[in-house]
Amino acid sequence: MSYKLVYKSLTDDQRQEIGDILTKYDNSELNILNTLLEIQDSLDEKYIGEEVCEIVSDRTGIPMIELYDIMSFYSMLDTEPRAKYKIEVCDCGSCYLNDSQSLIEVLEEKLRIKVGEHTYDWLFELETGPCVGACDIGPVMKIGDTVYGNLDKEKISRILDNLHNNRNGEA
Ligand code: FES
Repeated sequence: MSYKLVYKSLTDDQRQEIGDILTKYDNSELNILNTLLEIQDSLDEKYIGEEVCEIVSDRTGIPMIELYDIMSFYSMLDTEPRAKYKIEVCDCGSCYLNDSQSLIEVLEEKLRIKVGEHTYDWLFELETGPCVGACDIGPVMKIGDTVYGNLDKEKISRILDNLHNNRNGEA
């Protein structure tokens, strides 16, 4: 099951914050990567949409087409909305041998989504990812900067419940 993307217009506060970030980087073409990353990070859905591009283009003088090229070149820049919590399950080497597939199945069942999808409320998205260097506690999943290992069904439930209860807090 996948969900239709819903694009929201920027609020006045978001426009103000974007303007402040552009000012901080002197509206400069030279700082465009840092500018875009910081803007992306400041937005709830963590992506650079067309409306943001227009503001950046106006202020920096970089044509929209060049901004799109920059965003397609750098994988850390997103052009689609992201969920608040991105769950990445390592499916490499020892995690794979330690049955990362079962971990994926538990997450898919609990979140009612498949890998590559997000929950209806944009709280979670589920992906597979590369080794995160915690092979001894595999299978592991990474959410934000936190790596969780030695996972079973109960532990996964607790982690998801905590994040759900903290939905209005920091990621
Ligand atoms: S193989 Fe999964 S963390 Fe290294």
